[in-house]
This record gives sequence, structure tokens and C-alpha cells, in this order.
Amino acid sequence: MEGRRAAAAAFLAALVLGAAASGEQGAVNADNLLVITAATEETEGYERFLRTVRYFNYTVQTLGLGEEWRGGDVARTVGGGQKVRWLKEEMAKHAAREDLVVMFVDSYDVLLASGPVELLQKFMAFGSRIVFSAEGFCWPEWGLAERYPPVSSGKRFLNSGGFIGFAPAVHRLVQLWKYKDDDDDQLFYTRIFLDPGLREKFGLALDHKSKIFQNLNGAIDEVVLKFEQNRARARNVAYDTLPVVIHGNGPTKLQLNYLGNYIPNAWTYEGGCGGCGQGLLDLAGTPEEELPQVLVGVFIEQPTPFLPQFLQRLLGWDYPYSRLHLFIHNREVFHERHVQESWERLRGAFASLKLVGPEEELSQGEARDMAMDICRQDPACDYYLSLDTDVALTNPRTLRALIGQNRKIIAPMVSRPGKLWSNFWGALSPEGYYARAEDYVELVQGKRVGVWNVPYISQVYLVRGKTLRSELHDRSIFTLAETDPDMAFCKNVRERQGIFLHITNLEEFGRLLATAGYNTSRLHPDLWQITENPLDWEEKYIHENYSRVLDEEMVEQPCPDVYWFPVFTEAACDELVGEVEHFGVWSGGSHKDARLAGGYENVPTDDVHLTQLGLEGAWLRFLANYVGPVAERLYPGYYTKARALLNFVVRYRPEQQPALRPHHDSSTFTINIALNSKGTDYEGGGCRFLRYDCAVEAPRKGWSLMHPGRLTHFHEGLPTTRGTRYIMVSFVDP
Ligand SMILES: *[C@@H]1O[C@H](CO)[C@@H](O)[C@H](O)[C@H]1NC(C)=O
Ligand SMILES: *[C@@H]1O[C@H](CO)[C@@H](O)[C@H](O)[C@H]1NC(C)=O
Ligand SMILES: *[C@@H]1O[C@H](CO)[C@@H](O)[C@H](O)[C@H]1NC(C)=O
Repeated sequence: MEGRRAAAAAFLAALVLGAAASGEQGAVNADNLLVITAATEETEGYERFLRTVRYFNYTVQTLGLGEEWRGGDVARTVGGGQKVRWLKEEMAKHAAREDLVVMFVDSYDVLLASGPVELLQKFMAFGSRIVFSAEGFCWPEWGLAERYPPVSSGKRFLNSGGFIGFAPAVHRLVQLWKYKDDDDDQLFYTRIFLDPGLREKFGLALDHKSKIFQNLNGAIDEVVLKFEQNRARARNVAYDTLPVVIHGNGPTKLQLNYLGNYIPNAWTYEGGCGGCGQGLLDLAGTPEEELPQVLVGVFIEQPTPFLPQFLQRLLGWDYPYSRLHLFIHNREVFHERHVQESWERLRGAFASLKLVGPEEELSQGEARDMAMDICRQDPACDYYLSLDTDVALTNPRTLRALIGQNRKIIAPMVSRPGKLWSNFWGALSPEGYYARAEDYVELVQGKRVGVWNVPYISQVYLVRGKTLRSELHDRSIFTLAETDPDMAFCKNVRERQGIFLHITNLEEFGRLLATAGYNTSRLHPDLWQITENPLDWEEKYIHENYSRVLDEEMVEQPCPDVYWFPVFTEAACDELVGEVEHFGVWSGGSHKDARLAGGYENVPTDDVHLTQLGLEGAWLRFLANYVGPVAERLYPGYYTKARALLNFVVRYRPEQQPALRPHHDSSTFTINIALNSKGTDYEGGGCRFLRYDCAVEAPRKGWSLMHPGRLTHFHEGLPTTRGTRYIMVSFVDP
């Protein structure tokens, strides 16, 4: 024993000297340490493992690449005697290398968290010839548990997913393998370890306290992330150790994926996303006609606000449309007119277009299966982009950005503005539903940006065509399980070892819409969406130059203290008029008015109150958000509550109430928005302020007048001489 210790010390001294001589911190003579792993396929897990290997400059040898796996159906990663057979063959080459340390680890579910020097120091400190990783479960034969030496603290049982030893010792150990490829490797090593004679002969030890090897199964709560300068690693808080090899054995793959989003430099506080520049696909120099062909599957699975805007956005991508094919599944009769309205433009742009309408009565899952299969069956289909209509992709470069990330499956992160609702989950509950991951909030809020391996994505994601054809060939991927189609899809992907679900928040891609409570029995239900989807509402209904009103660049003062500014889009005006005409019950302009508290209107107009449409709530929010700030800007020192009891659309026609006699308003100030166009829709009209003998005679559609109400601005509505004129009036702060 003493002799071995001395030899080990000399060996370590040589290693460290070698490192010093090479002049690089942490560098080690590559000949002294060899990492051996087994993998039949270059899965994304294998590539992740290799990234950690390269980061620390380990020398690695992969056994079995391209070979057929015959180690049983234990998920191709753990277990399997075939790995021992390969190792036995490989070790024959290193049998005489007294100076070589060999570490064997699995690859699909393993990360390296530190470098060779630390690893070798820790190994030497064991004073054993071979050290196996340990875990809290005795597997595959629980009955052997009693035969393990007891431990006072730490994990008691051998796990064969990781071990490290001197090459000659490892060589002699694996010489004992005489079994079949699908016999169990862990049982093989366990039996040797449990024989006290063999244990002594081979100098075997277990890493009870995760000094080198951290098996996550049964130990998830013991392992936390630890951030160092530009590095992230795992810390075992039960034993206060910093393991070098992190192994997501058993059902801990998702936890390993989480750790792998950080370790060793995938994301750190100081370095940000360390791996983000690597492995990218650069499309910049690719001629347009050679860019990947993408099938875009659009899913209208529920009544969705702002669908015309969604369809319009499809036409604004920074990607050649000759390379884009479009599939639309529309399950909603309500949206058929929107699809029809865009049809010609979409057909003119996309290379091909297929529509499956509500009459086909496909379920959501069936439609998703159908679209994905179109890409799967077409060898020319390079990518499949699935896009739900509640996603507002406002970044026209999204598709390029996703392709550039060069992953099998990747989603752009989108969320509801100001909310934590997004299109991914960072963790799963034991039942497979949403669970809050420790870093979820940071990811959604963009405090940590990068590319993240997560258990669930939905609403918008890109899948490589080749991946569909080789690994996701099941045609019923959305309908297999009795769950919702997105969950079925993600579950299917998670159960394939080779593929990860990624989400990127490296850029802003857009946002998610809220769809609950969207009332399609209204004519223009988007008008009601100011609270649920304020950004989309603003985009559709607020005049593009409104923001310049607040800078006072876009305000006119046609009469003293009468201001005039753009506030509504054409759509806002047209839809509001459409709603009141659809409602169709006009007051008729009589003094008797049952809608008012006193039942009497002194200066009656032919109008419809917004309360009658159920639009008052939305209107008050509009006043607060868009009118209040202008009033405070233009009437300095006045603070408005932006309250209004009377909000109504007035109709002037030559044959029925063409004008309104001079009056004051029961308001502190009044807004009066022109809802249609002089010259085309009507002639005449306007508003005259008697005290100043000043009139605004050419109202502009979408522009609002704002003037004091109950004092100074005695005013009249000028006669409309042809057609119909509509205005929207609010008496603010009555
Ligand atoms: C790996 O080697 C490169 C090049 O020799 C070196 O720049 C880098 O610092 C090394 N990495 C580590 C973690 O030692
Ligand atoms: C939906 O709109 C209809 C028609 O305008 C209205 O009668 C109904 O009350 C609305 N439903 C809800 C839940 O707001
Ligand atoms: C906004 O203002 C610019 C000029 O400043 C003008 O060209 C444009 O037409 C305005 N937009 C609308 C919708 O009126």
C-alpha cells in the first residue's frame, strides 16, 4: 500500500510538472489521461458531452460510433455489456501503459464540470487503482445490497456509468468479461466489487461522496449550480463536494438538461452564453435559391384576436418566399373570412399553399400530424416551422435565426408582454405537467439569454426535416397519447434519447396573445381587446403618428385652447362605425332619453352610447391610456381622472339631425373624434366655437378635437349637407 501511494505521488508530481512545463494553466500532458466513452450515434446528448470535453481539453476516445447497438433496449445509454466488450478491446492497446489513467464514462447523459488536473488530483487522493461512481440504489439486483460494505455517510452502491483507474488495472478488470452484449455491465462490475478478494486484488473503491462522480438519480436535491468566474459547475451540498463528472442516470435526464444549460460555460453570469457562437449554420453567404426549403404550418385552432394582422405578418419575413411553403389549418368558421381576405396575397407569395378548413373536421392533433407529415414525406423539405396564430412573430428574421442555431428542434421564446406566460416550460411536474424551473423567470424576462434545453415547447418551433424522417418518423406524434397535442409531441420527443427541445431567447422574436374571453359573436371583437392584448390593440387601432402627439410635434391648435391630433387608425374608425350600425338602435335625437339618469337630454343628438354596445370598459381604458396623457400635456397643471359617463357615437345626416345648436358640454374637457371622411362620406360638417368665431370645418378621419367643456367653449355642430357624418364624443371628467 505504501509503495503504491509513493508511486502515485510521483505520478501526480510528473503530471503537475507537465502542466507547469506546458506553460498553460490547467493544461495536462494529454498522454497521461484518456477519457473513453461509448456511443453508437452522435446524439445531441453526445454532442453536449463533447462540448464539455473540448472545453477542458480532455483527450477522448469514443467506442462504438456507427455500430449497431446490441446492448439491450435499456435506452441505448446505460447498461449493456456491449460497452464492456468494446472497452476490453480498447484496453488491450493500453495494457502496458503504467503512466496512463483511463476514465470511462457514458456520454449521452454525462457532462464534465472540471478539467483533467483536478480530476487526476482527486483520483490520486483516493489511493486506489480503480474508483467507481456510487449511487443510493442497488441495481439491477437489489438482493446484493446486504453484501456491500456499510458506509457511515455517502452513497453505498456501485454505478458503472463512470469509473477511473490506471490503464493496466482497468485492462485486467475488463479481461474478466466473457458475457453477452446484452448482459448487464453494472452487474458484472458489481459482482467483482462485492468479492472481497477481487476488490483487494484490483484495488477497487467507490466514490461515496461524489468527489469525482455525481450520479443524479436519487440525489437531485443534493446538487445545486455553483457559479465561478466564467464557469458554472455543480456542487453537492450533502457532502460539500464539487464533482467533475455529472451523470443523469435513470429518470434524471431533465435535471441533467437543466444543469447542462449552464455547465461548464453554457451560461454564466460573467460570460453569458458561452457556447452560443459555436456550431452555427451561417446562411449569410447562401444564395437565395439555395436557402433551406421550409414548410410553414399555421394553426388556427381557436378564435384568435387580430388574425388578419397575423396573416399579414406572414408576408413580411426576411426569407425568400420561393423557398417557403404554407399549410393552414383553420378550425374556426369565424376566421374563414379572414383567411379568404388574405388568400390571394398568400398565394402570390408562397411557393405553395394548402388550406384545410373547418369543414374537414380535423382535430387539432390530426391537423398537426398532417402538416408535419407533409414535410416528413418530402425529401426536399429541409425544415418544418409550426406556428400557432396566437403568436405574434414581430421579428422578420426569426426563421433565419432559428435555422442558424442548427438544432434538430428549436423554438423562439415568446411570452405575454409583462407576464410570465410563455411558450415553454423549464421543468415538469411528476405527472408531466408544468412545473416552475428555478431559472424560469430569468429566462422569460430575458435576464439570462441563450439557447436552452427544456422539457416542453409549444406554439412556435422549427423542426429539421431530416430529424422527422430519421428519428421522429411516427406519423401520429401529436395524437399518440390521450393528452393535448403539444404535450404529446414533447413527450414523444423527450422519450427519444437523441433529440432535445430547445428554446432560444437570444433575440426578441415577438409575443404571445391572450385568447381567453374572445367574443366572436361581436362583429369586430378585436375592439374589445385593449386590456387582454394591449400591444396588438394599439398596433391595429392607434394612429401611427400618435406618439408624436405627446412630443407636441403632431398637435394643431385650430382655435384657442382647441387641440387637434391624430389618435385612431382607419380600422378603429371603420370598426367603431360598423359596430354602432350593426347595433342599429339610434336614439333619434329626442329630448326624452331613457338611457340617462334624469331621462331628459337638453341638447339631444342622434346617437348610440357605448354602454349599449358593452364597449364602455374598453373605452375608459382607451381614455386613460391615450387621451389622459395628451390632456395633461396640453393643459399643463390639470390632472385628469380620464373618467367619462357619456361616451357616444353621433350620426349627422341632412334628412335627420344634420347639425347641433350651440351648447356647452357637461365635461371638463371633451374629445370629438371624426370617424369618417369629409368629401367622400359626407359634405359639410365641422364644429364652430362661438366665443372665438372660429370653426374647424374640415374634420380629418381619425383625428380628435379636444376642447374645454362647460366653460368658454360654447360650440355648435355645423350642418352636414350630404351623406352621413359620424363622430365619437366623450365628456371627460364631468
Ligand atoms: C484548452 O486549450 C486551449 C488551447 O491550448 C487553451 O486556450 C484553453 O485555455 C484550454 N482550456 C482549459 C480549460 O484549460
Ligand atoms: C358576446 O357578445 C354578444 C353580442 O355582442 C353579447 O350579447 C354577449 O353578452 C357577449 N358575451 C360576453 C361573455 O361578453
Ligand atoms: C404620419 O406622419 C407622416 C409625416 O410626418 C405622414 O407622411 C404620414 O402619412 C402620417 N401617417 C398617417 C397615417 O397619417
